[in-house]
Amino acid sequence: MNVLFASSECAPFVKTGGLGDVVGALPRKLAQEGVNTAVILPKYKSIDEKYVKEMYYIDNIYIKMGWRSQYAGVFKLEKDDVIYYFVDNEFYFGHEPLYSDVYIDIERFAFFDKAVLALLQVTGFWPDVINLNDWQTGMIPVLLKAHYSHDDRYNRIKTVMTIHNLKYQGIYDKKTISDILDLDDDYFTPDKLEFYKDASFLKGGLVYSDYITTVSPTYSCEIMNEYFGENLNGILNARHESVRGIVNGIDYDVWNPRTDENIEENFDARNVVSKKRDNKLKLQRELGLLEDENKFLIGMVTRLTHQKGLELVDHIMDEMMAQGEVQLVILGSGDETYENMLRHYEWKYKGSVCSVIKFDNSLSHRIYAASDAFLMPSLFEPCGLSQMIAMHYGALPIVRETGGLKDTVEAYNEYENTGTGFSFANYNAHEMLYVINYAKSVWKNNKKAWQAMMKRAMKADFSWDNSAKSYIEVYNYLLGSV
Ligand code: GLC
Repeated sequence: MNVLFASSECAPFVKTGGLGDVVGALPRKLAQEGVNTAVILPKYKSIDEKYVKEMYYIDNIYIKMGWRSQYAGVFKLEKDDVIYYFVDNEFYFGHEPLYSDVYIDIERFAFFDKAVLALLQVTGFWPDVINLNDWQTGMIPVLLKAHYSHDDRYNRIKTVMTIHNLKYQGIYDKKTISDILDLDDDYFTPDKLEFYKDASFLKGGLVYSDYITTVSPTYSCEIMNEYFGENLNGILNARHESVRGIVNGIDYDVWNPRTDENIEENFDARNVVSKKRDNKLKLQRELGLLEDENKFLIGMVTRLTHQKGLELVDHIMDEMMAQGEVQLVILGSGDETYENMLRHYEWKYKGSVCSVIKFDNSLSHRIYAASDAFLMPSLFEPCGLSQMIAMHYGALPIVRETGGLKDTVEAYNEYENTGTGFSFANYNAHEMLYVINYAKSVWKNNKKAWQAMMKRAMKADFSWDNSAKSYIEVYNYLLGSV
């Protein structure tokens, strides 16, 4: 079976969030399971020189974009039994940052979607299945139908649309989209691409793909409702028989506290208690926090967006810091309002709150290793990877029960001595504070229970093994082999 992943991100070449991690890990796992796997992504300027040196040029073609004709080169790199193809075009991908204003991105990814299909003829990798990821690749199944249905090599290809985040949809005016993608008016009716008088890339993917997956089972149910459905719950309901939630895994080659070179003291479940103390003291020193092992250190590593529940943190920050028992480290970047809010709290609670406003992969490892607890109060969370990484590093997650957070964190039960973290149901700041205080009291007064829970969390299985098998099941189902 040949499977091609089309994506706007793929670690280690380029990543801004979880999408990059997933497309970096899942294809490798599929290859290990015997699937011939390839990934196609844009050849961005920001890709590290060391990878660019490993690529070699295959060929080029020209893609019609409205009245212009655009060059599309393709480069190839083989790594860990996966073939990576990079679509080259200086005009579209030769600039920072990765994502830009919508009017620019719409054209760039329209070009990418066209190029992915056209380039199959020069790469010679004919997929049985194309696995699409998020809105940037949503037009691929639409184009397959509109431009290639007469060609048998294309006609037999099945498509799976994986939703990592329903909120981002790639919406723009119908006229521009019909022009650059060469689609006639029939495609722009409300049952197809039309979306509140505009047109939507993601909707195209949802309507025209053969199958839809989301990155956790709970999220696949949540998005059937208005609250989480981002105005696409109607079409998702109509297609519910072809929707399945498959939880993401984490990459244990990258996230392994025993071998991690970014952290001060390596550890495993046997010596986590003492090593976490050492890592904590070292992180406190590194970040200018009060060096005291008796502070309850809460970590957050997050994009600073509305999705991530920062309003709740804002609302209870003063109460949380009042008794002087908690320290909070937040690493991330994003919306300016949240960045400034966090800078303010660092200033106000110097020595107890540290806000590192940037993307720093290495520091994120040290935060997971040093923290006692890891806070993720998301408004919605398609899967979330950080809570799984945190558990693997013995930092117990405190999460809101939504999406993948609900599927991966088992709440502590003090009577049964079970669980791998803490959770709360409603998007309510005081409900969150109550659970933070509860976690703190277990940590402080019931060390035995806490330490047993740390070990359970570290040993929980978040590998890609099971999830990769579920993807293969979906592909087999589509190809009629089960
Ligand atoms: C997006 C989602 C996140 C998910 C990730 C990978 O970033 O917000 O919940 O884990 O994609 O699928």
